[in-house]
Amino acid sequence: TLSLLILCLASSLCFNLDTDQPTTFLMESAGFGYSVVQYANSWVVVGAPQEIKAANQTGSLYQCDYRTGKCEPIRLKIPPEAVNMSLGLSLAASTNPSQLLACGPTVHHTCKENMYLTGFCFLLVSPSWQAQRLPAALQECPRQEQDIVFLIDGSGSISFRDFTKMLNFVKAVMSQFQRPSTQFSLMQFSDHSRVHFTFKDFIYSSNPLGLLDSVYQLQGFTYTATAIQMVTNQLFSASSGARKDASKILIVITDGQKKGDPLGYEDVIPRAEAAGIIRYAVGVGCGNTLPPLPPFTSS
Ligand SMILES: *[C@@H]1O[C@H](CO)[C@@H](O)[C@H](O)[C@H]1NC(C)=O
Ligand SMILES: *[C@@H]1O[C@H](CO)[C@@H](O)[C@H](O)[C@H]1NC(C)=O
Repeated sequence: TLSLLILCLASSLCFNLDTDQPTTFLMESAGFGYSVVQYANSWVVVGAPQEIKAANQTGSLYQCDYRTGKCEPIRLKIPPEAVNMSLGLSLAASTNPSQLLACGPTVHHTCKENMYLTGFCFLLVSPSWQAQRLPAALQECPRQEQDIVFLIDGSGSISFRDFTKMLNFVKAVMSQFQRPSTQFSLMQFSDHSRVHFTFKDFIYSSNPLGLLDSVYQLQGFTYTATAIQMVTNQLFSASSGARKDASKILIVITDGQKKGDPLGYEDVIPRAEAAGIIRYAVGVGCGNTLPPLPPFTSS
C-alpha cells in the first residue's frame, strides 16, 4: 500500500503544493500511486498496476476526488486478451478535450513455445469512461514457417565457376535450416526452365542436399521475368507443397542481365507482390560489370 499526497488546487495546469493541510488518498491496492495524473480539474486519476483483479487481470485505475478525499475504481471493460497487462503502469491526461490515456505494457501473449509481452492502451473520457483501445487488436504471432524458393540463373552468360558457386550457396543456406519449419524448392532458368525439386520433393526426400547433385547448367538466354511468373504460379502452390500460412520467400540468383524475355518485370512482379512473396536478388559474376538487378530488395 502506498499512501499518496495529492495537494493540488487546480484550475489550471499548475500544481500548488499545500504543505500545511495535505490530502492523503489511501487504498489497499497493490502499486496504488505508481502513476498519478490530474484530470478534469476536480480529480486525480491514480494507477495501481500491480493489483490482481481476476485470474488474468492485473492493474486498475482509481478516480480520486480531493474535495472528499475518497477514491473509487474506474470500471473498465478489459478485453480477455489483455492478459496481466499491468493497467496503469503509465498514465497521461490532456485538457481540452479532457482525455485520459492509460496503458499496460505487459500483456502476456503466447506464440507456440514463446511468450511475448506487448502492450495495450485505453483512451478514456469521463464520466462514462468509454474506452477506445489502442491498438485495436493484438499483434499477430510472427510466422514460424517459411517456404523458400531458389531461382537460379543457368543461362549462357553465367560461367561454370559461378554456376558452381551458386549451387554451393544454395547448399549452404539449405543446411542452415531445419525441416519441417523451413521448406525449400529449386528452379533453374534460362530461356526455358527446370524445376529441380518442389517443396513436396524436399519434404519427402531422405537426403535433401542430394537433390542438388543432378543439377547441371541449362545454357541459353535469360528469361528472368518468365521464370518469376512460373515460380509464382507453380511452385508457390498447394500442389507443389507450399503452405498457406508460411512466409513466402523467393531468392533469385542471377548476373542481372535479363535477355530475350518476352515478359517484363512489370508483367510479373505485381502478381508476386499480391501473392505475398518476399523477393531477394543475389548477384553473381564480375563486380565491375554487374548490371542492375531486378527490382527487388537486393542483398
Ligand atoms: C488466462 O490466460 C491464459 C493464457 O492466455 C489462458 O489459457 C487461460 O484460459 C486464462 N484463464 C482465465 C481464467 O481466463
Ligand atoms: C497472470 O497473473 C496471475 C497472478 O499473478 C498468474 O497466476 C497467472 O498465471 C498469470 N497468467 C499468465 C498467462 O501469465
